[in-house]
Amino acid sequence: MVDWAGKTILITGASDGIGRGLVEQFDSRGARQLILIGRDRTRLDQVAAACQTETRIEEVDLADSDQLAHLMQRLAVVEIDVLINNAGVGLGGAFASHEQDDRLQSMIKLNCDAVILLTRAVLPGMLERRRGSLLFVGSLAGWAGGPGLCAYSATKGFVNRFAEGLRWELHGTGVAVSLLAPGATRTSFFETAGIDATDIRGGSMSSSEVARLAILGLQKNRAIIVPGFQNRILWMMQNLLPRSWVGWVSRKIGQPILDRESA
Ligand SMILES: NC(=O)c1ccc[n+]([C@@H]2O[C@H](COP(=O)([O-])OP(=O)(O)OC[C@H]3O[C@@H](n4cnc5c(N)ncnc54)[C@H](OP(=O)(O)O)[C@@H]3O)[C@@H](O)[C@H]2O)c1
Repeated sequence: MVDWAGKTILITGASDGIGRGLVEQFDSRGARQLILIGRDRTRLDQVAAACQTETRIEEVDLADSDQLAHLMQRLAVVEIDVLINNAGVGLGGAFASHEQDDRLQSMIKLNCDAVILLTRAVLPGMLERRRGSLLFVGSLAGWAGGPGLCAYSATKGFVNRFAEGLRWELHGTGVAVSLLAPGATRTSFFETAGIDATDIRGGSMSSSEVARLAILGLQKNRAIIVPGFQNRILWMMQNLLPRSWVGWVSRKIGQPILDRESA
């Protein structure tokens, strides 16, 4: 079991949703410092104010290459024990209707580039110390294709695969890698992605429950953490069923998003 006492923990997307839930979880576990990253200073201040643990706020747009580079310069002198790559956004609707290339590119920069670059920045220190934990927040959608959310699902497929590969690459180094792959979770995610949350069929979980199960899985050094019974069934089905069946079910799930857009 990992002991969080005295650790410096960096959490991206700490101002809201699952990231905020993770901050609350770590706050009661004796960490030395929580580094909170997001763009919304007011919400970051509120999250920090509710913490018992010492916090450091980094107000950064991770989709902005210059801001990310400056952040990495500032972090170069900090010993980070745990990196939580959580910040991410979605983009709903038919792929052909995404006329705004800037939103697509910004999503890819945040969901993929920032994850790679931050990980690369903190990993050498972890390897030198022969200890550290990396948690990647991918998604169940990263394995399913996700009609109505194709490009987003692809970014999460990238995260899922990167985390899986890195875990085995780092095997025996003292650096642990876990992937959190949530299903639908009640956060601002859908609104930001331009999706009506009522179009998402099936159940959803609260962000605090997802965060609680994520920390439990991280403590046990689980390779893949799929929170919730229903999500684990879906995950198992994805692994067992022929891909054409997975595609058919995904299309059924994504249909309301596509229908609403074309209405
Ligand atoms: N909700 C779901 O159903 C679901 C399911 C599977 C996976 N996920 C994944 O879970 C992660 C967290 O999402 P969430 O559901 O908690 O959504 P959320 O409530 O919208 O939170 C997103 C977080 O990311 C931060 N963020 C967004 N753009 C950013 C940027 N350019 N630079 C820095 N920070 C940025 C936001 O902070 P600021 O606004 O302050 O920048 C916020 O703290 C994402 O990676 C998402 O893909 C979510």
